[in-house]
Amino acid sequence: MNVKEAYDYSFAFLKANGVDEAENKALNAVCCIAGIKLGEFQSHKDDFVNMKRLADFLWRLKTGEPLQYVMGKWDFYESEFFVGEGVLIPRPETEELTELVIDYAKSLEKPVIFDLCSGSGCIGISVAKKLSNAFVYCIEKSKDAYKYLERNAKGVANVECILGDINNEFDLPSADIIVSNPPYIKSGDMKTLQKEVKKEPSMALDGGDDGLDFYRIINDKWKKYLKDNGRLFLEIGEDEGESIKDALSAFSNITVKKDLSGNDRMVVADKVIG
Ligand SMILES: C[S@@+](CC[C@H](N)C(=O)[O-])C[C@H]1O[C@@H](n2cnc3c(N)ncnc32)[C@H](O)[C@@H]1O
Repeated sequence: MNVKEAYDYSFAFLKANGVDEAENKALNAVCCIAGIKLGEFQSHKDDFVNMKRLADFLWRLKTGEPLQYVMGKWDFYESEFFVGEGVLIPRPETEELTELVIDYAKSLEKPVIFDLCSGSGCIGISVAKKLSNAFVYCIEKSKDAYKYLERNAKGVANVECILGDINNEFDLPSADIIVSNPPYIKSGDMKTLQKEVKKEPSMALDGGDDGLDFYRIINDKWKKYLKDNGRLFLEIGEDEGESIKDALSAFSNITVKKDLSGNDRMVVADKVIG
């Protein structure tokens, strides 16, 4: 089959099997297998598509596996990141947090940056690639996620990957910036997640009873790693804009920022000195 035929077949197959966003998934799957970008579909519509691979993709999509895991990679900010079972799929709203960090960090001379709970490394690695004068430490606890982090960081000289629990102590230089997109879903809401999100690791999502456990850890344990003029950047759940302020007692100038959809999504805060 060529690209056009494979797309028509895949769309019909996914639709008939009740897979949501069948059109988008069919297009992404076929382009991924054909090794072309989405925008190149028309100009490559006669290219050959490996049917064995397509059959495998379609079967996995039918069983509810996320498109990104099936493809094994996903675009984030200005790069492609390897993803798969065991690691959180980078989200578009996290690109906004990444942009915020880059905008601030580019005014600093040689910023030292920690990306806590780094997962695939999408935030830290994107910042490091954009700012060659920065040095980024990415800390991740899950061994499964860490494999992707290391793979994504390969060849990026200004990133160090650390397999570790942010509850523990680390031997690190003082940081200018700490950024984190930690797990922030309330434990009670975990069972209400969409079928595909449930395929992502619960360790990447579950933020404890009120969703704020990890912000408290960052508040209690990580202030000491920040320089006195250091700054904290966090992603939060859309309903956490108010409660986050109580969790961050060691920080001042706490500003909640909205994402492009108009939801509270990011927090910027300064260290309280003393
Ligand atoms: C919401 S995901 C974010 C991943 C990535 N930063 C992103 O934005 O796509 C949270 C990550 O925190 C990791 N994690 C959970 N508990 C941790 C801990 N105690 N220490 C370090 N990382 C942890 C999870 O394995 C997961 O990769």
